[in-house]
Amino acid sequence: MSVLIKGGTVVTDSDTYRADVLCANGTVQAIGKDLDVPAGCEIIDASGQYVMPGGIDPHTHMQLPFMGTVASEDFYTGTAAALAGGTTSIIDFVIPSPGQSLLDAFETWQGWAEKAATDYAFHVAITWWDDSVRRDMETLVREHGVNSFKHFMAYKGAIMATDDILVESFSRCLELGAVPTVHAENGELVYHLQQKLLAEGMTGPEAHPLSRPPQVEGEAASRAIRIAGTLGAPIYLVHVSTKDAVDEIAYARQQGQPVYGECLAGHLVLDDSVYRNPDWGQAAAHVMSPPFRPEGHQEALWHGLQAGNLQTTATDHCCFCADQKAMGKEDFTKIPNGTAGVEDRMAVLWDEGVNTGKLSINDFVALTSTNTARIFNLYPRKGAVQVGSDADLVVWDPNGTRTISAATHHQNIDFNIFEGKTVRGIPRHTVSQGKWVWRDGELRAERGAGRYLERPAYPGVFELLERRAELNAPKAVPRH
Ligand code: URP
Ligand code: ZN
Ligand code: ZN
Repeated sequence: MSVLIKGGTVVTDSDTYRADVLCANGTVQAIGKDLDVPAGCEIIDASGQYVMPGGIDPHTHMQLPFMGTVASEDFYTGTAAALAGGTTSIIDFVIPSPGQSLLDAFETWQGWAEKAATDYAFHVAITWWDDSVRRDMETLVREHGVNSFKHFMAYKGAIMATDDILVESFSRCLELGAVPTVHAENGELVYHLQQKLLAEGMTGPEAHPLSRPPQVEGEAASRAIRIAGTLGAPIYLVHVSTKDAVDEIAYARQQGQPVYGECLAGHLVLDDSVYRNPDWGQAAAHVMSPPFRPEGHQEALWHGLQAGNLQTTATDHCCFCADQKAMGKEDFTKIPNGTAGVEDRMAVLWDEGVNTGKLSINDFVALTSTNTARIFNLYPRKGAVQVGSDADLVVWDPNGTRTISAATHHQNIDFNIFEGKTVRGIPRHTVSQGKWVWRDGELRAERGAGRYLERPAYPGVFELLERRAELNAPKAVPRH
């Protein structure tokens, strides 16, 4: 079965040119002007449209068991919604309970993900530490293609990684050639502020952002970056939401430290006024961590993307419906944290980024796909339009419009944080593994079609970093 995308403009992170793209057997077979149409080939008319690598969302939580409930979106519904939004791969998180074997948790998540409609990979969270964790990290890297490990610096009493764990795990990542990643919020401060606010009688969602002010993120970002820098390890910060954290990243990068940052479509466009909505359900639906921020931080995130200090965009897609959010009716700390967006990320970034002139179309490709593929070692299989790459492509209509709404989205959640927003620039067609899966509004996602993506570690780069760390290590002063 082959598909010819005809008459479009190919856009990569570096180039823009007119060409047809022929996909067969799941990969890109040819790129060129006026390609012949093989017998039986389906044709997608891409005239007036852009042909780009399918999006990669590096941060999703499908069917995550979290805060006493389970995210409503499973690996099938969530990846189907992703395809409708032009995203053709996700990187989800295996999150072992403290004390649980990493390999057992990995197997559980693999089982859940068998129904995925897009290709997928996993980061694995380090939520506790002993020698078995150390060993399992090696098995995951060498035998299961995991090259990134996640550390939650928040969620005290649950999955929080304390400094001793960060030091052990970042060092182990460095030995294995894996990338340590962090959710940067100071969990002790969050816990302290939560108890204080509750004691003062603040029990509603308006207290959520007050319990997690920007400096809580700035402190954790600085600490994680400095721990990584001391050890000579690279570091990737997920869902960077504040100017405080962007400044820490920018400073470290200026010193030559390999630091990477991700930001969420939601954090780029919403502010903390959502928590002051007098309707409890509306405010609670926005409870996620880090929270939406006061005005001004959004501009800093855009500047971070423009300056190259933030390299990727994600969603942290983690869906909880109104009945689940209601678990925190009497106590804001019990509202399950999470919001959706896997279907909307690309259109929101295009509308707010490209249409406003903040980003070029090549920046858009880099930020929605290619940079993630490079950082997490999926490139050029993913994130590219190249002969031999997977035929995961999106045909982007820069003039198409859509009004985002929970009433029409494909995500399995009864709320949309972008409700009512009309975006100009939409995925007109999505091709996954060479098959036409989103066709001008018709979704043909196939349950179980997604494949697990192995992501090899980076021994070469890490050997270099280790040598650099040795050179920078304090030397013993000779005694005479
Ligand atoms: O609120 C969020 N972000 N929920 C999912 C877990 C996490 O912190 O990424
Ligand atoms: Zn997080
Ligand atoms: Zn997350």
